[in-house]
Amino acid sequence: MALRIVAHRPDPSIVRLPWSTPLADWDEKHLVPLPRGLSRHVVRIVRVKDRIYAVKETEEQVALTEYRLLRDLHRMGLPAVVPQGVVAGRTAADGSPLPAALLTQHLRFSLPYRSLFAHGLRPENLPSLVDALVVLLVRLHLADFYWGDVSLSNVLFRRNAGEFAAYLVDAETGELNKTLSPRLRQHDLEVACENVFAELLDLQASQDLDAEVAAHEVVDLIGVRYDELWRELTGAEEFTTDEMWRIEQRIERLGSLGFDVDELDIVTDFDGETVRIQPRVVELGHHCRQLRALTGMDVEENQARRLLGDLAAYAAAHGLDDVDRPVVAQRWLTEVYRPVTALVPAESRGKLEPAEVFHEVLEHRWRLSENAGTEVDIFAAARDWVDHVLPHRPEEAFG
Ligand SMILES: Nc1ncnc2c1ncn2[C@@H]1O[C@H](COP(=O)(O)OP(=O)(O)OP(=O)(O)O)[C@@H](O)[C@H]1O
Ligand SMILES: [Mg+2]
Repeated sequence: MALRIVAHRPDPSIVRLPWSTPLADWDEKHLVPLPRGLSRHVVRIVRVKDRIYAVKETEEQVALTEYRLLRDLHRMGLPAVVPQGVVAGRTAADGSPLPAALLTQHLRFSLPYRSLFAHGLRPENLPSLVDALVVLLVRLHLADFYWGDVSLSNVLFRRNAGEFAAYLVDAETGELNKTLSPRLRQHDLEVACENVFAELLDLQASQDLDAEVAAHEVVDLIGVRYDELWRELTGAEEFTTDEMWRIEQRIERLGSLGFDVDELDIVTDFDGETVRIQPRVVELGHHCRQLRALTGMDVEENQARRLLGDLAAYAAAHGLDDVDRPVVAQRWLTEVYRPVTALVPAESRGKLEPAEVFHEVLEHRWRLSENAGTEVDIFAAARDWVDHVLPHRPEEAFG
């Protein structure tokens, strides 16, 4: 039987992969030995020319549904792995049928949670991991996406200025609804808590996580942080008309959380004495969008916040506050950002993304300055970081 390939932008080299062999038996030459999370299906990371894909064997209908769902999430600008296609109609050499395969683009600089722990994540970083998961879940819920299988294994993490950004990797049980009922949101939260609890115990059993860590406390944090963020992003507020500044204040508060308000409902009562506001459409990326407009750079939200902070400090230090921001941004890029990140030797470029390097250099400079009791130059700090910190960092780009 002939292969059937469904793809939005087909990559012709995919056809040449050994589809008549079960994925578990693929030759080493196709595979990239990358860290993978736990999975029920056979999943392998493969290299096709200069591209890297994750291939998951599953049933054709399941693969097609997941493919379409991931495409929808991608179109909606939500953080999820990008689907490449589905290969079906596979048969082995002896004519027996083989499962279909879902291909997704490998997410660069992403780590499954187990590798994060193997790369030195400490118990005190657990809240930032939970926060990343919660931000992802809230964003999916705001888009009326029901996940059905929230867990650390179904997420990939990217570094985000010392914190993390979570990407959905497994949408098999997901559904995009017209509206998402509070009951379904609650269900996702319960599943998240059960799964994360089991995953933390698992990490403790394998001695990748300190046995002292109280898994139930970490899990309780999921519900608390979710409720806080959901309320802040969607909750209504009422006040009198002489407190109109509260509209501006709400928008600023959302901005400080990284969210932009696209639509805000403002309703006044009959005699115009009280006002009720409620955000309708909010989107993460407040600082990302600013940075992209100024520099064209595409980075994670906290990284963007960090870089914008340094850009502002640069403008102030050089008396450029009154100069056009895009002009200052170009100067900062050529005089600071690019030369600092270029200090990373070519063979170490796969350890951290440039924006994360810059963030680490800023932190390093802060520590050095504190010890020295005087402000250390950013290039001196960067050289010191490259010489003393970077060599101990593991490879994380993977392709
Ligand atoms: N695009 C990708 N980039 C990087 N890693 C990936 C990608 N897709 C999958 N992986 C890795 O493979 C692991 C398993 O993938 P996935 O969760 O989709 O399979 P699964 O668990 O077998 O599916 P299910 O939970 O539906 O049974 C993930 O945890 C992740 O580590
Ligand atoms: Mg999974």
